[in-house]
Parts: sequence; C-alpha cells; structure tokens
Amino acid sequence: MKKIVLAVGSSISAYKSCDLARLFVKSGYDVYTVLTENATKLVSPIALEALTGHPVYTDETLWEKHEMGHITLKDDAALFLAAPATANMIGKFANGIADDMVSTTFLAMKCPILIAPAMNPNMYSHPSVQFNIGKLKGWGFGFVEPDEGLVACGDTGKGRLADINIIYQAAVDVIEGK
Ligand SMILES: Cc1cc2nc3c(=O)[nH]c(=O)nc-3n(C[C@H](O)[C@H](O)[C@H](O)COP(=O)(O)O)c2cc1C
Repeated sequence: MKKIVLAVGSSISAYKSCDLARLFVKSGYDVYTVLTENATKLVSPIALEALTGHPVYTDETLWEKHEMGHITLKDDAALFLAAPATANMIGKFANGIADDMVSTTFLAMKCPILIAPAMNPNMYSHPSVQFNIGKLKGWGFGFVEPDEGLVACGDTGKGRLADINIIYQAAVDVIEGK
C-alpha cells in the first residue's frame, strides 16, 4: 500500500481534508495525517482518524507522546501533500523553519512534495507569499494552484483551495509517475 502523508493547515478549508483523505483511502492508499495545532481547532482529528484508520499526528505527538513522529512518517512515504497549506506553512517550508510537527515532518521528507495553498486573495498575492512559493517551485516542489473566485471571508480573487478532485488527481499523477 502506498503511503501518503497529508499535512493540514488552519485554513477555513481544512474540513475538505476529510473528503480528500477519504478519496485516497477509497483508492487504496494508506493515509497519515499531520495537523498543525491551529488546524485541530478547524477540523476534528477524530474524524480524520476514523477516515484514515491511523492516529493523527500533531504537536502533541511530537512533544507529549515522544514518538518522534516526524521521523517515523518520513519512511516509505510516496508523497507529502500539504492541503490546505496556509501562508504560514508555506513560509516555514520555504525558510527551513521546523518549529512544529508539520514543518518538522516536511523537512524530514525525501519523497515528492505537493502543496495546495489556500488563503485570502490579498495574502496569496502578497510579495512575501509569492516569493516563498517561487522559492519552493525553484527547488522542484509541486503546487496545485488555488482557484479564483469568492473566498469564505467574502473577498474575490485567487486563493481558494483547488477542487479536491483536482488535488486528488495531481497527487495520484505524482505517485504513479504519470
Ligand atoms: C477561521 C479562520 C480561517 C483561516 N483561514 C486561513 C486560510 O485559508 N489561509 C491562511 O493562510 N490562513 C488562514 N487563517 C489564518 C491562520 O490560521 C493563521 O495564519 C495561523 O497562524 C496559521 O497556522 P498554521 O499554519 O500553523 O495552521 C485562518 C484563521 C481563521 C481563524
């Protein structure tokens, strides 16, 4: 069974990670989820545990359970997928910051990386975020471009998480080498 590490950030679209995880599981992939501390406020770790059949990795795993999960997860992963990826996560990924479970896991990964950003259009178009995305692309990391349109806060522009079916297909293409 091919292993996907699904990192979830605290975007309003974090709840969509449940459907995304379900799509992968239904297709026979083994899904391990890693949530930022803030993401646990927006999506239930229990739902993701039930959907994936594995405990969710959080900062608690890193510090309170002393499981060194960031090292465990790196082994045999076919893909590290960050969806939704917040501006904060992208900033950490681009700058070698490893101060939580998600960013530490990212740095430990040797498998292909796919990042699906989701944020307010002003945040997405900010030079700082665009610079970080450019840096990550320059290192060969894959991106699933966000959609244009109305975002949850009422603004319009580019920044809404790409359709989960698009993210799913992009991930499968990377894993299966298409
Ligand atoms: C309801 C809510 C929705 C948010 N949606 C987003 C989002 O879509 N994208 C984003 O980059 N930040 C969003 N934020 C802000 C992030 O949660 C904040 O920057 C946080 O520090 C990111 O932490 P994380 O990257 O560790 O999850 C949202 C915050 C709240 C309270």
